[in-house]
Amino acid sequence: MDYFDSISNAKEYIKMAEGIDGTYLVNIFKKHLKKDSSVLELGMGPGKDLDELKKCYKVVGSDKSKAFLDLYSEENKDIELLLLDAKTLKTDKKFDGIYSNKVLIHLDKEELKESINRQYNILNEGGLALHSFWKGNSEEIVEGLKFVYYEKGELLELFSKKFKIIDIEYYTEMEYEDSIYIIVKKT
Ligand SMILES: C[S@@+](CC[C@H](N)C(=O)[O-])C[C@H]1O[C@@H](n2cnc3c(N)ncnc32)[C@H](O)[C@@H]1O
Repeated sequence: MDYFDSISNAKEYIKMAEGIDGTYLVNIFKKHLKKDSSVLELGMGPGKDLDELKKCYKVVGSDKSKAFLDLYSEENKDIELLLLDAKTLKTDKKFDGIYSNKVLIHLDKEELKESINRQYNILNEGGLALHSFWKGNSEEIVEGLKFVYYEKGELLELFSKKFKIIDIEYYTEMEYEDSIYIIVKKT
C-alpha cells in the first residue's frame, strides 16, 4: 500500500494543503490553453488545483490514490474522476491538456519516460501539458514515497524526445526557486 492510499494520510495532506494557493500554476496554464478545452489533472490530491481548473476547462480529475478521489467526490458529485496511475495512464479518453502539480516527482526516471510516452498518446494534436517538479539532483524515499528531483536540463532532455518545449521556468513554493514547471506541446 502506498502512503496516500491510507485515508488518514490523505486527510492529513488535505489539512496541510488548506492554506496553499492553487492558482499560480493554473494561471500560467490558462495563458497557453484556451478556455473550455478538455483537461486531465494527474495526481489531483486534495483537488485545490482542480477547483481552479474547473472554472474554465472541462476537467477530469485523477489520482492513483482512491482515498483522494473518494474525499473529493463527496463534495463534487458532478466532476468526473478516474483512478489513474500517472505512469501507465490506462484510459481510452483523449484530452486537449494534461496538468500535474508535484506528482511526476513520485515516478522514477524510467517511469517518467513511460508517462511522457503515454501522455503523448492521450493528448489531442496541438495538446498541451504542464507539470511541476522539485528542483535538485537527488532521489529519496520518505514514508515509503519516492521523491525524484530534477534540474531544467534533464527535464528538457526527457520531454523534448516527444514534445515541443513551450516554456520551462523556476518558481518558488517553499524556498526561493525550489521548483520548476515545464509546459510542452504535442505538435
Ligand atoms: C505531493 S501530492 C500533490 C497533490 C496535488 N497535485 C497538489 O498539488 O496538492 C502528490 C499526489 O500525487 C499522487 N500520486 C503519487 N504517485 C502517483 C502516480 N504514480 N500516479 C498518479 N498519482 C500519483 C498522490 O496520491 C498525491 O495525490
